[in-house]
Amino acid sequence: MQNKILHLLKKNDGYISGEELSHALKISRAGIWKYMQELREHGYEIVAVPHLGYKLLSSPDKLFPEEIQFDLKTKILGKRISYHETVPSTMDVAFQWGMDGTPEGTLVIAESQTKGRGRMGRGWSSPKGKGVYLSIILRPPLPPTQVAQLTLLSAVAVAEAIEDKTGMLPQIKWPNDLLLHHKKVAGILTELSAETDRVRFVVIGIGINVNTPLNSLPPHATSLKQEAKRHFSRVALTQDVLRKMEFWYGRLLGEGFSSILQRWKELSLTLRRPIRISDASGHLEGEAIDIDTDGGLLIRCDTGVIVKRMAGDVVFAH
Ligand code: BTN
Repeated sequence: MQNKILHLLKKNDGYISGEELSHALKISRAGIWKYMQELREHGYEIVAVPHLGYKLLSSPDKLFPEEIQFDLKTKILGKRISYHETVPSTMDVAFQWGMDGTPEGTLVIAESQTKGRGRMGRGWSSPKGKGVYLSIILRPPLPPTQVAQLTLLSAVAVAEAIEDKTGMLPQIKWPNDLLLHHKKVAGILTELSAETDRVRFVVIGIGINVNTPLNSLPPHATSLKQEAKRHFSRVALTQDVLRKMEFWYGRLLGEGFSSILQRWKELSLTLRRPIRISDASGHLEGEAIDIDTDGGLLIRCDTGVIVKRMAGDVVFAH
């Protein structure tokens, strides 16, 4: 019911009378008043003026499902949302939902994480109410070997959403780092549950440092606020990430990976550069020459041999 009232308040620029609300929602005016109180307790600023009715003045800076779903207009992503004030990691919650058979597109989102994790065993700083920390469950009809395509797709979607909402276009460092002025502003973590030749589900984890102060971030990281010197709406950014992800995911399933790969290359900071890549098997130096159709990075070593890496940490060599 609270959702419905909120929806009507948001749709209405001016005042909406208690009578109108009680008629539309088929509850008493006392009931409406009670729900308004509850919304106020959640941080919504609502005025009530005799003879005019109610008006929403402001919404709290929270990633409530009803905020994200308002005017979202996606078909799959974000139709179902699991919202948390604090979780150890949205990845774990999403993984459990995936195992329980939740439909594709389910979103797990949190205001803070106590054990946010990044790639290669690193952590992800997740202070309360400052960043976007979310995981999306997808069930792509892909073999496990092609799941890296989803990481690249997500990096493109997040970069485009950041550009739309801030005017700053991040560059992508293979496979999943989004950088502004060479400092990391967002990252993507892909985990999957699969059989030998079939993906059961994939969890795409996205972390964006939105209004995060520098002192909560590791060295070489930044936030959108830090770069632009202004505050950004986490709700609007989350909505745009979902829209862009849905757009590119539709492309992937409909037409294949090539248009995503092309867009990724346009945004890439990695290609045609001398790099050093480290993974569990050790270090390798060479020039990053291309991305393969499965999302792997092709490196021409100093010996002229071309090798492919599916994972690893890239640093730019000079
Ligand atoms: C990386 O750059 O290493 C990936 C970072 C991914 C962070 C996000 S925040 C939401 C989700 N939950 C996690 O614990 N990690 C991902």
